Amino acid sequence: MRNWTRRDVMKTGLMASLGAWASPRLISGGPSESDAPVPPAPDAPAAAQRERLLLDFGWRFHLGHADDPQRDFGYGAGEEFAKTGEFLRGPSRPDFDVSAWQEVDLPHDWVVELPFENAAPLYNQGFKPVGRDYPATSIGWYRRVFDLPASDHGRRLSLEFDGVFRDCQVALNGVFLGRNLSGYAPFAFDVTALANYGGPNVLVVRADATEHEGWFYEGAGIYRHVWLVKTAPQHVAQWGTYVTSAVHARLATLTVATQVVNEADDTPSCRVRSTVTDPEGRVVASAVTVPARLAAWTGREFSQQLNVQSPALWSVETPRLYRLTTAVEVAGAEVDRYETPFGIRTMRFDPDQGFFLNGQRVELKGTCNHQDHAGVGSALPDRLQAYRIERLKAMGSNAYRTSHNPPTPELLDACDRLGMLVLDENRMMSSSEQALTQFSRLIRRDRNHPCVFAWSIGNEEWFVQGSERGAMIAATMKQVARRLDPSRPITEAMNGDWGKGLSSVVDVQGFNYFASDIDEFHRGHPHLPSMGSETASTVSTRGIYANDTTRGYLSAYDLNFPPWAATAERWWSYYDARPFLAGGFVWTGFDYRGEPTPYKWPCISSHFGILDTCGFPKDNFWYYQAWWGGAPVLHLFPHWNWPGKEGQEIEVWVHSNLERVELFLNGASLGAQDVKRDTHLTWKVPYAPGTLEARGSKGGQVVLTDRRETTGAPARLLLVPDRDAIAADREDVVVVEARVLDASGRIVPVADDEVTFTVTGPGRIVGVGNGDPSSHEADKGSVRRAFNGLCMAIVQATKDPGALRVEATAPGLAAGEAAVTCRPAAVRPSVG
Ligand code: GAL
Repeated sequence: MRNWTRRDVMKTGLMASLGAWASPRLISGGPSESDAPVPPAPDAPAAAQRERLLLDFGWRFHLGHADDPQRDFGYGAGEEFAKTGEFLRGPSRPDFDVSAWQEVDLPHDWVVELPFENAAPLYNQGFKPVGRDYPATSIGWYRRVFDLPASDHGRRLSLEFDGVFRDCQVALNGVFLGRNLSGYAPFAFDVTALANYGGPNVLVVRADATEHEGWFYEGAGIYRHVWLVKTAPQHVAQWGTYVTSAVHARLATLTVATQVVNEADDTPSCRVRSTVTDPEGRVVASAVTVPARLAAWTGREFSQQLNVQSPALWSVETPRLYRLTTAVEVAGAEVDRYETPFGIRTMRFDPDQGFFLNGQRVELKGTCNHQDHAGVGSALPDRLQAYRIERLKAMGSNAYRTSHNPPTPELLDACDRLGMLVLDENRMMSSSEQALTQFSRLIRRDRNHPCVFAWSIGNEEWFVQGSERGAMIAATMKQVARRLDPSRPITEAMNGDWGKGLSSVVDVQGFNYFASDIDEFHRGHPHLPSMGSETASTVSTRGIYANDTTRGYLSAYDLNFPPWAATAERWWSYYDARPFLAGGFVWTGFDYRGEPTPYKWPCISSHFGILDTCGFPKDNFWYYQAWWGGAPVLHLFPHWNWPGKEGQEIEVWVHSNLERVELFLNGASLGAQDVKRDTHLTWKVPYAPGTLEARGSKGGQVVLTDRRETTGAPARLLLVPDRDAIAADREDVVVVEARVLDASGRIVPVADDEVTFTVTGPGRIVGVGNGDPSSHEADKGSVRRAFNGLCMAIVQATKDPGALRVEATAPGLAAGEAAVTCRPAAVRPSVG
């Protein structure tokens, strides 16, 4: 193991209303709840209702050029910013010819389609050509034309972007809307004054990815959703609700803060009606405020308290979600309705006993993750967020760190729904106004998610984390967090300097990897709760059992790790033995592009994942499942296809949480061993083809067996979709796993056949993958080699219901096929 590249020593290596809320001018103390009987809600006139329309479909895309205005649609050639109305002027023109532009739907990541390039500076980005040296592939232009009905005149219109990577400039009808720098921060523009009512509107986005924000694959483009929001002039502000709860015995008291804006000249009297529905959809509480006058062009916060009897608490096992419906009523009529899903639960950290959820100690069994996935790069259809969380849950994980940036909202929705705690991380730690604004957006956007248990203000800020300056930056950020969300602690993922600088500010000490002595730290800081913000970091490749420096693979035994890290077994047994540590987050749950530590080209993906980039588990998955999950586990490896190694010793491992495991080769016992908590078992077995079998027992009874058999040659393909039915809503996807089987139906663990996927019926392939960290095959397309017996295609539904048939073929193998039903489903309300 050589070439630990990055950091052996120091690891060198608006929306108008949004701004408005930061300004005290627009906030006045509001009236609070009236205890009077709640008057009946008025009927809402249909036209007054808020609409939130997805603006994902029907875009055009073209690469621009960072250095040459002629190849960048004229950008930079003239006085772009001189006069209102001619911004991004070529593509902003209504008659602009887009015939050479690619048709794309969002989310879209243009980097995933670029060819790999062997250049050392591209190491972190997975050897994809973006950055200052690649002007021809680092600028992306997006254009979308949409009609607005004349009847929208008089409503407030805004465009909400969940995330564009990065430094994007946006024009509507040639008018500059604004510029957003961070690729991870959501942003919005009020476009009421610029819209063309009763006619076409030209929306143009120029994204500039020549600079990176992280040291990992970041993708580029409009890789999250875009929304057009239409409201009445009086409406709930973006992210304008905040629900917290205090739980006493069988009663939860909710405190609801609602920010209402009045974007009009008049000064109407307004009240807020809040209705809470329980997980079954029953109304369990409601309250209406006393009316208050809204001054022209300003905002007001309303505050209410509501009681919920016998609340169903949100937990990782039972993630029960409530819903707050906020109605804004003006002159007796409902003018806006805003929905806020939330959960009721209590959380606290204890310096000696770790983390408590609803009064119970919960060990954080977490993983850190970047946001990219095989086949699609950073542009994940929403379903893939849930797919990834489901896989982590199946491993017994209960916590997720959004390293090192704010996540996409749908990731948090999936965590809320599925029961996964989230450490929600900011990108760059700073007290600059820009950074604080971004941090505020993160908190305002995410603070109602019950899954979010803490804010991470940064990661390994080694220039400042141990200093007075760092402490002052952190203290400034903490003020922002306290003001916007007093209910959660802040932490920082520190990789040294523990006890200095930021340690005096954070509410929870984060340890990235091993502090010189965590026990000593705890003794010296007995009042500071702590957790492993980044731990382990085993490097391994799925299905590989010897390091291979040429191809860039690492053995999947839990053996290899960078100098700053540890094996799964080492970190977990250490943390498991120390109740004062609240648990920790493994680096990483999934492999990601970039950082192919300890290798370089031709390796393009990281090896840190417990699962590969597709979500196929590596062997450590079962280590964690054994010691994190509750169910009995018995996992035997490696595979048993070692022709030419007859008689040579093969190291055989078992991950199990049973009491005792006996190993057999071709029916003969190789001995039994007792399982010790948090460890694995090993045998040295002289190889002979046939059947290796592990029998795991508890209380003297065999409860599980696992087998590895020497297989025959590849004979056929088997397709296994992750679901039999998906929604015909243009967004849903099915992940179709292709397995290469021998004639007896066993997965051939070394097969690398080239598989071609074909879809018939209402669906299309949006990406393929195989988890091979050195594969340079295209993610977009329909062909992929199997890697150690497996590959997969992600197939997306259209809006047409019907039967989808996926077929996989490979030369010399019998084809495989899978049937998936596309169930009738409404396409989300979208811009036409
Ligand atoms: C950590 C860092 C991660 C990743 C990891 C690789 O120090 O926080 O982002 O780079 O190292 O081991």
